[in-house]
Amino acid sequence: MLDKLERIKGNLQEETKAINTLKGAEQLRTKYLGRKGSINDLMKLIPTLPVEKRAAYGQQINSLKIEITDIIEGLIKKFSSKTIPKNKTEIFDITLPGKRPSIGKSHPLTQTIDDIKEVFARLGFDVAYGPEVESEYYNFEALNIPPDHPSRTDFDTFYIKGDILLRSQTSTVQIRIMEKQEPPIRIIAPGRVYRPDTVDARHSFMFHQVEGLLVDEGVSFADLKGVLNQFIKTYFGQDIKMRFRPSFFPFTEPSAEVDISCSLCRSKGCNVCSYSGWVEILGAGMVDPNVFKAVHYDAEKYTGFAFGMGVERITMLKHGIGDIRLFYENDMRFLSQF
Ligand code: PHE
Repeated sequence: MLDKLERIKGNLQEETKAINTLKGAEQLRTKYLGRKGSINDLMKLIPTLPVEKRAAYGQQINSLKIEITDIIEGLIKKFSSKTIPKNKTEIFDITLPGKRPSIGKSHPLTQTIDDIKEVFARLGFDVAYGPEVESEYYNFEALNIPPDHPSRTDFDTFYIKGDILLRSQTSTVQIRIMEKQEPPIRIIAPGRVYRPDTVDARHSFMFHQVEGLLVDEGVSFADLKGVLNQFIKTYFGQDIKMRFRPSFFPFTEPSAEVDISCSLCRSKGCNVCSYSGWVEILGAGMVDPNVFKAVHYDAEKYTGFAFGMGVERITMLKHGIGDIRLFYENDMRFLSQF
């Protein structure tokens, strides 16, 4: 028995001399330490021995196994770091394609905001920003939203402290801009807004809006319609139709909600448009004289229009995305599609 162990060790030492590649070292490992290797073969003999000899023999095999493992691991280590070929021309084969670094890109929502900015830039709109932490004055009062309006309750707005809150709409930027500038005004204002909505496939406690505001002498509802029509056709496609439904917002009068013909099913009816062929994409209207009063504009001299659209909504419609939560999960499988 012990002879056998010695022989195996001797063989290994002989074979080691002939090994000069990583592959060779790995083959050696299989041969000696693998499931069908020499060490395992020796183990199988244990039950054939007289009981009193088994323990001693087992120990011998184990120390041999440790020795062999050391030797083979050493070889593997040696050749792993030696895989660089000696011939330099083989290292730098300039005809091989290079490794392309993966280049990042904008989030789909940022892409939508950029697209919206671009369309409106061509129509002469500047981009303006306002703070996300706001006061009740900018989010409500100045926008003609009375104290008893439901959107002012704790359920519909995140209050921070006293009258400080997270803005629930980008309409706040209308006021901030008009306080600083005299007409003519022509801006869009993208940004985040917050509402304590329960998160589901269509709702999120945070989402994005793009506000629009145009104020000048002689601005009419037809101008609003013309601008929105231009935007919708450019962004969604020339064949998309638009319709206005009468609505109410405290800061616009008259007000409308604007629908487009469903861009996903081409108005044939699908679950996104609830089989109606139309989907709402924004709220709009003519600036209420009370808003002009808040910013000390002459409501006799100036008129204007405003609109506010949901960025997630528009992106979902454009790309047929069924769940708003996908935008916020940072899953590369989703994001890399855009
Ligand atoms: N601020 C409104 C909302 O969040 C949208 C809107 C903006 C409506 C401007 C009219 C004019 O629902």
